[in-house]
Amino acid sequence: MENTVNTTPETKKKRVLSMIQPTGMFTLGNYLGALKNFVALQNDYECVYALADLHAITVRQNPAEFRKNTLSAYAMMLALGIDPEKSIFFIQSQVPEHAQLAWVLSCYTQFGELSRMTQFKDKSSKNADNINAGLFTYPALMAADILLYQTDLVPVGGDQKQHVEICRDIAMRFNNIYGDVFTIPEPYIPPTGARIMSLTSPENKMSKSDKDPGGCIYIMQSPDDIMRCFKRAVTDSETGHCVYACPEKLGVTNLMQIYSVCTGKTMDEIEAEFDGMGYGAFKPAVGEAVVETLRPIREEAERLMKDKAYLEDILRDGAERAAYAANRTLRKVYKKIGFVQI
Ligand code: TRP
Repeated sequence: MENTVNTTPETKKKRVLSMIQPTGMFTLGNYLGALKNFVALQNDYECVYALADLHAITVRQNPAEFRKNTLSAYAMMLALGIDPEKSIFFIQSQVPEHAQLAWVLSCYTQFGELSRMTQFKDKSSKNADNINAGLFTYPALMAADILLYQTDLVPVGGDQKQHVEICRDIAMRFNNIYGDVFTIPEPYIPPTGARIMSLTSPENKMSKSDKDPGGCIYIMQSPDDIMRCFKRAVTDSETGHCVYACPEKLGVTNLMQIYSVCTGKTMDEIEAEFDGMGYGAFKPAVGEAVVETLRPIREEAERLMKDKAYLEDILRDGAERAAYAANRTLRKVYKKIGFVQI
């Protein structure tokens, strides 16, 4: 199917692009923090979303698990509302232009600037036995992801902001040499990006690598498991157990935020609702709200996972539409550089 981008200037929507690595299962933090926002953006922007599986192999993956996780991540994103008719939604490795442009851009990226990336320094100190070249050149691939689609806005969390900055630098450098080839993208920090913290160590972000498995909730987790985690969530030992938000009460504030995003209630409304009730009533109520928020997503993802033919159709269509858009940019780049065209 052809990409239906509206090209008349008055009505042209801005293009948004974001990708997420399909490693492991998505967490409640991924959902409330980033994915929910991906869904909302589809109404106002031309969105391109993808699973960044090429990025994921900078860390060794078990092939069977990797394949399964990628497919279920795709199904999960459809289930939570990524609309393959409205947006272009695909798997990165299925669109070869990403790897092709990444090589070109790596020749316009300096060793020195890659060496300054905090994520590289961080990841290489954690994976001292596998500091591969891909881990180092990762920002050039991410720049290719963004620039292939002439992206205006890139919704990212704070940890990826530096990568969007280097992408801008690479794009401007390229444009300075060859003329206006790439749109210069901007990082887009969503106005209501909920930052969900671990349930057991609320000073840390909710993460799959949480040492205590009770700290992290997964979109596909069973309601019983979810309820158990919320009942065990860390609050504080304050007498009176009042439900109110304040910076010192990290655990309670986090639970209130989760409850707020799931129910749409404000922090004031939540305080009033649980006035005088204590954490014993509050924690299971948050658990229930999360269970009910995730239930339709989990059920729909399970249904989709069984419908292999449908999933394959959507995957193929997404990859074709992405390749169509990506190829236009790549052709232009190849021509500007002086590669022989046939
Ligand atoms: N590097 C991002 C992460 O690890 C994922 C990613 C890959 C991405 N390509 C991107 C994010 C392009 C935004 C735009 O989370």
